Parts: sequence; C-alpha cells; structure tokens
Amino acid sequence: MKVLVTGGAGFIGSTTCSALEDAGHTPVVLDSLVNGPEVFTRGRIFYQGDIADVALIRRIFAEHPDIVATLHFAARIVVTESVALPALYYRENVMGSLTLFETLLELEQTQVIFSSSASIYDSPANLRVDENSPLKSLSPYARSKRMTEEMLEDLCAASQATVSPMRAIALRYFNPVGADPKLRSGPYAADPTHILGRLMAAAQGRADGFEITGTDYPTRDGSGLRDYIHVWDLAQAHVAALENFDGAFLAAARNGHGEVSFLPINVGSGNGVTVRELVTAFEAASPTLVTVRSGPRRPGDSAGAHADTTRARDYLNWTAQLTVAEAMASAFAWEAVREERLILDLSISS
Ligand SMILES: NC(=O)c1ccc[n+]([C@@H]2O[C@H](COP(=O)([O-])OP(=O)(O)OC[C@H]3O[C@@H](n4cnc5c(N)ncnc54)[C@H](O)[C@@H]3O)[C@@H](O)[C@H]2O)c1
Repeated sequence: MKVLVTGGAGFIGSTTCSALEDAGHTPVVLDSLVNGPEVFTRGRIFYQGDIADVALIRRIFAEHPDIVATLHFAARIVVTESVALPALYYRENVMGSLTLFETLLELEQTQVIFSSSASIYDSPANLRVDENSPLKSLSPYARSKRMTEEMLEDLCAASQATVSPMRAIALRYFNPVGADPKLRSGPYAADPTHILGRLMAAAQGRADGFEITGTDYPTRDGSGLRDYIHVWDLAQAHVAALENFDGAFLAAARNGHGEVSFLPINVGSGNGVTVRELVTAFEAASPTLVTVRSGPRRPGDSAGAHADTTRARDYLNWTAQLTVAEAMASAFAWEAVREERLILDLSISS
C-alpha cells in the first residue's frame, strides 16, 4: 500500500517508514524539516513542506492517486517549549492538523492514523490506563494532542453522512526508546530532552550526571513509572494499524463500541518500569558509569502510568515484542553511528 507519512523525517516517522518498507508498503513523506533531518528521507518519495500547505497536499495526492491512508506524525513535541510557546503548539499541532484533515476530506481520503500521546491521561492510583481512563493533560503539548483527537473524532463523525466517510485510529504512544535495530534511524538530536537522551549525555560526560526527578511518588521505589516501548515495536504498531484498519473497526463494533469512526488505541509495552529500574537497565548496557543523584519532582510531572494494551492486541493483532534491554542495546548501537549517519550521504534504507 502507498501511504502519506507526515513528519516522516522525524524519529518515529522515519523508523515507521522503514517498517512500512520492510512490510512491502511505500511511504510518501511530507515533512517541513523544522526538526527532522533530511537524511532520514533519502531514498524515499519526499516532499518538503508544511502540513498546512493545502496546495502542496493537493499536489501530493494528484501525483500519487494510489495513496490509501495518511499516517500523521508531524508535530512540535517538546513539552517545556510548549509551556513557553503555547501559541506555536496550538497553531502547528492543532490548526495545522485541522487544515490537513479538511484537505484530506476534500480529497476523499478516508483513512487516518494519528500519532497521539499517553501524556493526555491522568495518573491513576493503580498506575494502569486503558482507553477509557480519565484524561488530564498537563501541558500545552499534551492539550494540543487531546484537542487534535477531539477535532478528528468530530470530523470523522460528521463525515459519516457524506460520500467519503472518514475513519481514524489515534495511536496513544507511551514512551518510545531505542532505535531501528538495523540502524537506519534513531534519535537524531545531540541532546534530546527525554530520559534516555539525558542518561546518554550523562554517560558521555556531556552532562553533570543524571538526576532522578522525584523520589517520593507512590510507586514501588518512589521514582516515576513509565511504559517504555521500543521504537521498533511502535513502528510495527503502525504497520498493524494500516494492515488491520478495517478489521480494527469491525472488532470494535463486535466488542460493543457500535459503529464508531474514531478509535483511540494505547501503544505501550504494557509493563511499568520505574526511572530507577530504567537507570539500572541503562547502566547494564552502558560502557561508562553514570553518576545518579536524587532530586525534587519537576512541576507538572506525575507518578506516571503504564498501558493496558488489550485493545491493541484484540483490534490490531499487535503486542510489543522487544524488551527494555533490547531498546537500550539499540540505543547504544545507534549512538555509536549517529553522527556519521547524520553527516554522511547515507544509504541507510539499503
Ligand atoms: N517522541 C515521543 O516520546 C512521543 C510520544 C508520544 C507521541 N509522540 C508523537 O509522535 C509524533 C512523532 O514524534 P517524534 O518523536 O518522531 O518527533 P520528531 O520531532 O522527531 O518528528 C516530528 C517531525 O514532524 C516535522 N514537522 C513538525 N511540524 C511540521 C509541520 N507543521 N509540517 C510538516 N512537518 C512538520 C518535523 O520536522 C519532524 O521531522 C508526534 O506527533 C509526537 O507528538 C511522540
């Protein structure tokens, strides 16, 4: 199948493009390169531009009338930046997505797979969330994801009465870590703000150790708990969502959801791992020691949660296969080649 992949130059989008190609599909990448590197698009059909550029989207579909679905990854993703620049996040993530979705409707493109986030959930007492768990978005970034979901749900519902009824699956990602096991892509920023990036910076002496932010959470060791998912598993979840798109809605209907047109699905490993446990797994894979210290909670952080992945298993026929240790190993393997990969005119898709 040929699919439009917005944000296909990014960390998760480019890894998903590799997984799609491995499964025999053809990604058509649309990315502004505001963040993702151009090298991740090499060897692929690529359009540089913005998701809000209606003329460009019309041109892409005119030039590729055989596109059957849109995987929408493109977004601004840094939580702290979203707190400082909320207008940017609402404009790029929410308004940009609205323009994209309206153009897809105009073009009678009816299958959408949207990159949502587990950051929209509240942290419940049992630290486990399913798709009906209470929501509580703590940042403009998380709210932009929630708003886009709500908008997409409304657009899909309204389109059911038209000639081109749109349906969408919102994959709510938990915490992606690691890199493509074949090292075609991985985290590209030198100093990513997420936990593995900060651990890597500490291990390489580029940061003054690693601080566990919050050690008094109601978890088994007091540090925050997350659901770390190997990015390759996450990429495979998109392949599963694409290949089982109709089946997912049929399964939802059989399961008592009725005739829904919008389906949120958790994508996590299903296992909760505390920050201290992740640090231990990281140290086991790291050739150098990391100085670890305890610090206070960060404002806006919560104890966290892990995914109930029943829906992903039952509707998409997908479950995570890889371990945190495998994610760590791939992260180190990627880190060893990252600079070279990003500088060279690579043939990473070979
Ligand atoms: N990384 C995570 O931990 C995580 C967790 C949950 C959800 N997500 C979601 O997954 C998606 C991909 O995240 P990622 O980690 O690969 O981020 P990323 O920044 O690596 O990728 C996003 C890509 O979108 C592009 N982009 C941004 N705004 C654009 C626009 N207006 N038009 C066209 N292209 C644009 C960027 O250049 C970049 O290549 C995002 O939607 C993000 O919200 C990520």
